[in-house]
Amino acid sequence: MVTTSHFTLIMAPLQGFTDVTFRNVYARHFSGVDEALAPFLSTMGHQRLKPSRIKDVAPQHNRALPVFPQILGNAADDFIFLARHLADMGHTRVNWNLGCPHSKIAQKKRGSGLLMYPEMMDALLEKIVPQIPVPLSVKIRLGRQNKEEIHDLIQVLNRYPLDHVILHPRTGVQMYRGRADLDAFEAAMKASVHPFVYNGDITDTAFFSMVKHRFPGIRGFMIGRGILANPFLPEEIKGVLSDPDRRLARVRAFHDDLVAAYAGRFSGPGHLTGRMKGFWHYLGPSFTNHRMPVKKILRSPDFQTYCAHVADFFDSGPRFCP
Ligand SMILES: Cc1cc2nc3c(=O)[nH]c(=O)nc-3n(C[C@H](O)[C@H](O)[C@H](O)COP(=O)(O)O)c2cc1C
Repeated sequence: MVTTSHFTLIMAPLQGFTDVTFRNVYARHFSGVDEALAPFLSTMGHQRLKPSRIKDVAPQHNRALPVFPQILGNAADDFIFLARHLADMGHTRVNWNLGCPHSKIAQKKRGSGLLMYPEMMDALLEKIVPQIPVPLSVKIRLGRQNKEEIHDLIQVLNRYPLDHVILHPRTGVQMYRGRADLDAFEAAMKASVHPFVYNGDITDTAFFSMVKHRFPGIRGFMIGRGILANPFLPEEIKGVLSDPDRRLARVRAFHDDLVAAYAGRFSGPGHLTGRMKGFWHYLGPSFTNHRMPVKKILRSPDFQTYCAHVADFFDSGPRFCP
C-alpha cells in the first residue's frame, strides 16, 4: 500500500479503449480512479460536430466516473466552437491534446505535431484562452523531435492561466519506445508556473511510489496502459484492494460485463470481437501461463469461438499476477 497525501488519480484517454462504455463498466467493478480524461474529440471545421463522438462525454452518460473532455485540433475558431459546446453540455473544463504521436496527425500540426511550433501554439492560446468559458489544461509530450523542445514550450504555457499541465515525458517521434524521462519531467515541472500531472509507464505500485516520492506536491497522476493490464492498480495505489484472492473472479466479472455492454452498442459481432481482443493484448500478459491460451483468444475467428476460448481460459483457473 502507498500512503496517501492528496493527489488525483486520473484514467488516461486511450482512443479505442477508454470510451464511455468502458469507463462506466470499469467504475462498476473497481475503485481508486478519481476521474477520467476522455479520448480526444477532433475539431471538424465549419462549426460542425460529430454527435456520435460528442455522446461519449455527455454528462448524463458519465455519472459513474467524472470525465473531462479533450480536444484535438489546431484551428482556434473550431476549438472555441467545440469548447463552448462542451461547456454548454455542462463541462467545467476542457483539455487540449498536444501529445498524440501518430505521424498522420502530427504531419497536420495536430497533437505532438504542434510541439515543434511554439509560436503557433502561442498564437492559438492567445486566441483560445480568453474566448472559452471554462479553464483549459493541456496534455503534452517533451517535444516532437527532441526533448529540448520542452524548454520553449513551458515558457509559452507559462504566459497563460492554464488549469494544469499533463506531461508524458517522451517525445512524439519516440511513440512509446524507451522509458519515460523522469529527469526531463522534473526540469519541466520546475520551470513551470502551473500545477503538473505525471503520466507515463505507471504499471505497478513500486513505480508509482517512486514517482510520487520524487515529485511531491504534484497535482495528480494519470494512468493508461497500466489500468488495462491491471485494472486493480488504482485500488492497489490507494490501498483499498480488499481481497486479493478474488482477483480472478473480479476480472472475469468485469470482462463479461464489458462484453455485454459492448454487445448492446456495436452492430456486428466482428466489431465486438475486435474490440475485446484489443483488451487482451494488455490484460493477457498479467496472467500466469498466458501465452498459449491468450494466443488462442486473439486468433478467435468469430465471436462464439472468442467466448468459448475466454471461458476455457478463466475456467482453467489462471493466477492473475500482473
Ligand atoms: C491505444 C492508445 C490510445 C491513446 N489515445 C489517446 C487520446 O485519445 N488522447 C491522448 O491525449 N492520449 C492518448 N494516448 C496516450 C495515453 O493517454 C498516455 O499518454 C500514454 O499511454 C502514456 O501513459 P501510460 O504509460 O500510463 O499508458 C493513447 C495511448 C494509447 C496506447
